[in-house]
Amino acid sequence: MTKSVKVSAPGKIILSGEHAVVYGYPAILAAVNRRLAVEVEESRSGLKIVSRESPNLARYALKKIEEVTRRKIGDEFRIKVVSQIPVGCGMGSSAALAVSFTGATFKFVNHPWSKKGINEIAYELEKKQHLTPSGCDNTISTYGGFLWFRKETEELKVFSHLPLKALPKIFLIDSGKPKETTGEMVAMVRQLYSTHPRKIERIFRKIEKTTKKMLGLLLLTKRHPKLDQLFKENEKLLEELKIVSPQTQALIRKIEKIGGGAKISGAGGIKEGSGIILAYHQNPEVLLNFAQKEKLPCFEIKLGEEGVRVEKETL
Ligand code: PMV
Repeated sequence: MTKSVKVSAPGKIILSGEHAVVYGYPAILAAVNRRLAVEVEESRSGLKIVSRESPNLARYALKKIEEVTRRKIGDEFRIKVVSQIPVGCGMGSSAALAVSFTGATFKFVNHPWSKKGINEIAYELEKKQHLTPSGCDNTISTYGGFLWFRKETEELKVFSHLPLKALPKIFLIDSGKPKETTGEMVAMVRQLYSTHPRKIERIFRKIEKTTKKMLGLLLLTKRHPKLDQLFKENEKLLEELKIVSPQTQALIRKIEKIGGGAKISGAGGIKEGSGIILAYHQNPEVLLNFAQKEKLPCFEIKLGEEGVRVEKETL
């Protein structure tokens, strides 16, 4: 029988704290019920990648994994990627790829399975792609559930699982695929930060306050705010960071007008779409009717999905 391993990891949304998280402020993330799976299989025809993802990344990944496992893995295997996560719209598809690929290779070469080890390599792969990521995407994809995440320094990233009590129904609406990459959006905010440090620092501090309010809502503390209000507050601050396109802003204003609240989730985009947006309305029917009328893809998402896991193994 051909030796093969299949490992999958979930995509994610950011409930609060994107961009600020790159500068050491906290973020709250949730894994979602859309997964990406990597299957690694023995082959004599050399490394073959059946996916839209870059073969160069896979080669870089192998190099990193060889360093950690101290084993020469070579390229005599075939990699197949199957994904339910849309690419390039803030749902963490690149992180899920990095996590699943690392996990599958660990299993394939009999390296001890450790989420910590997988997450560390996946972070290196994310850096290769997005230059200065916070590491939140790979961490949620590895561990799953709901996470409070904070990057203290390059070496120390602190996170804590949130014991979630209740969460209102959240819908995802596609505002269109951004023209820009995550790396480009992070670089734009960095540029803004270097020209107006005090102003941007103030925005980040306000984002942190919103993230803490979101924590109150998730843990059902007394006097917690409503989700539509929190989304509105967070979105306004993200717009001040200039990462939301005029067309997405117009769409979010319409959602607010029908009594809901919405925010982008992830890096955003300014030329055309800004990726998926998170939307909430006390009466979900109103939101669904609105999306249908506007011909917008809209679907409910299940949050708190399991992190990286082995799906199949024939060794
Ligand atoms: O990859 P995205 O679009 O989900 O964005 C990741 C979140 C950022 O805060 C914008 C970047 C980061 O590395 O934390």
